[in-house]
Formats: sequence, C-alpha cells, structure tokens
Amino acid sequence: MEKSPSLFSLQGRRALVTGSGRGLGFSLARGLARAGAAVVLNDVAEDRLAAGVELLRGEGAAVEGCRFDVTDPLAVQQAIAQLTADGGAIDILVNNAGIHRYAALDTMSLAQWNDVLSVNLTGAFLVAQAVIGGMKRRGGGKIINICSLMSEGSRPTTGNYTAAKGGLKLLTKSMAVEWGAHGVQANGIGPGYILSDMTRHLAADPQFDGWVRSRTPAGRWGTPDDLVGAAVFLASPAADFVNGHVIYVDGGWLAAL
Ligand SMILES: NC(=O)c1ccc[n+]([C@@H]2O[C@H](COP(=O)([O-])OP(=O)(O)OC[C@H]3O[C@@H](n4cnc5c(N)ncnc54)[C@H](O)[C@@H]3O)[C@@H](O)[C@H]2O)c1
Repeated sequence: MEKSPSLFSLQGRRALVTGSGRGLGFSLARGLARAGAAVVLNDVAEDRLAAGVELLRGEGAAVEGCRFDVTDPLAVQQAIAQLTADGGAIDILVNNAGIHRYAALDTMSLAQWNDVLSVNLTGAFLVAQAVIGGMKRRGGGKIINICSLMSEGSRPTTGNYTAAKGGLKLLTKSMAVEWGAHGVQANGIGPGYILSDMTRHLAADPQFDGWVRSRTPAGRWGTPDDLVGAAVFLASPAADFVNGHVIYVDGGWLAAL
C-alpha cells in the first residue's frame, strides 16, 4: 500500500498564533509545533509571552516570541514586516487572541463593547490583512479563526462577545471567498466550554460547573489539548479543499437540545 505520511505534517511550515502566551493559544501552538511547524508565539503580555516561549523551547520546539497588541494596526504591520524580513514566511495564522467583558446589554459601557469587538473581531481582521500579501505571493496559506459556541448563540451578559464571535464566523467565510482563489483556506474552530484562565471563575462556580457537565454530551469540560487535532487538520495539506467552515470541538454541545 502506498503510504502518505505528509498528509497531516506541518514540516517546513511557520505558524503564528496570537494570544498564545497561555491557554488555548499556547496549547494550539504546541500542537502545531509537535506536528512539525516552527511557531511564533504572540501575546500583549510580555511576561506571559516569555514564559510560553521558554516552556516550548524547553520541549525542543522551534519557537520565537513576538509581542504586539492585535488591536494596534501599526504594531501588527511592523511585527509581521519584522517576522517576514529576509524572506521569512507566515504559512499558518491562528487568530486566537480574545477577551471577555461581561455586562448586560442595557448597562454595557461603550468601552466594554469596543474592547471585545476590537480584540476578538477587529484583531483577527488586522493580523490576517497583514499576512495575506505573503500568503498570496507564495500561492497558499492557512488561516484558523478561534470562534466559539457564541458564534451560534448567546447567554446573558455576553452580547459584546457574541457579536464579535458571530462576526468572526462570517468574517471567516469572507476570507474564504476572497482568498480561496489564491490557495488560502480560512476556517474556524469553535471550542465548547474549555478549562482555561478565561473560564476558571465559571468552573469554580458549582452551579455553572454542574450545568456545563450536564449540558455537554461528553459530560465534562474540554481541555485546551482537545482542540489540537482540529487545528493540525485545518493547518495541514489534509484541509486543502476545506474552506470557510467552523469545526465545533464542543463535546457534542451543539448537537444536544
Ligand atoms: N476557554 C474557553 O472555554 C473558550 C471557549 C470558546 C472560545 N474561546 C476563545 O479561545 C481564545 C483563547 O481563550 P483562552 O481561554 O485561552 O483565554 P486566555 O485569557 O487564557 O488567553 C488569551 C490570551 O490572549 C492574550 N491577549 C488578550 N488581548 C490581546 C491582544 N490585544 N493582543 C494580543 N494578545 C492578547 C491574553 O494576554 C492571553 O494570554 C479566545 O479567543 C477565546 O474567546 C475560549
């Protein structure tokens, strides 16, 4: 039988994962590195970024760190220019940076609204816009936008986050439509409830924790590593004809009524 060892291999690829000093982004970067990619960690928090780089370097990954704020257009452009100087490529972009600012819609401040839209939606647009030129020149690339169950529906106090993640799902389709002819595939991953620093306070609330466990067909919270398989698939040649979709890695959440 003919073997196809390269189908899911990321050997020779370079991946940038935003907001990857900790949490889901860090695990996604580590997963891409284990599949063969050189990885660039990014975070706005210098200490987190340094810790993440040190950890991955200790595991033998080809890793570098690049601090920038995904909401700052100039900083994004400068960072990508620096990363791609001397012919360096960004073959894979994971738009992962994200924040929450919980508030009811009727009392939500404009700052709470703008902060979440800026990081979770505009940030993905800005970083993708900065890397797309290089991807087009090389005739291909992979963009993975980290969406959410809230790309599909909402819960009270998450109106800003829901608007951003719903927008990100459809921005993913726009990227697929506009850049597909250049060999670029843009897809999303929609995590279910995953244990991370972002959700620690929710998991610590017995009522919320019980609700997540009973509402999720898998009967548990997800872990950041649960997302790695989908990310490696979408970043690899195995997904060369997969474009504009969101894969929900949610333990069956969206399947259940
Ligand atoms: N944890 C979950 O259950 C869950 C579920 C669905 C989606 N998500 C999404 O996954 C992504 C990662 O979430 P997490 O749980 O790992 O959160 P996290 O807070 O642990 O990590 C997010 C990282 O992004 C960084 N960041 C924030 N703003 C930034 C900016 N402007 N520029 C660069 N970096 C910035 C933070 O410093 C932090 O290190 C987010 O987009 C989040 O919305 C998480």
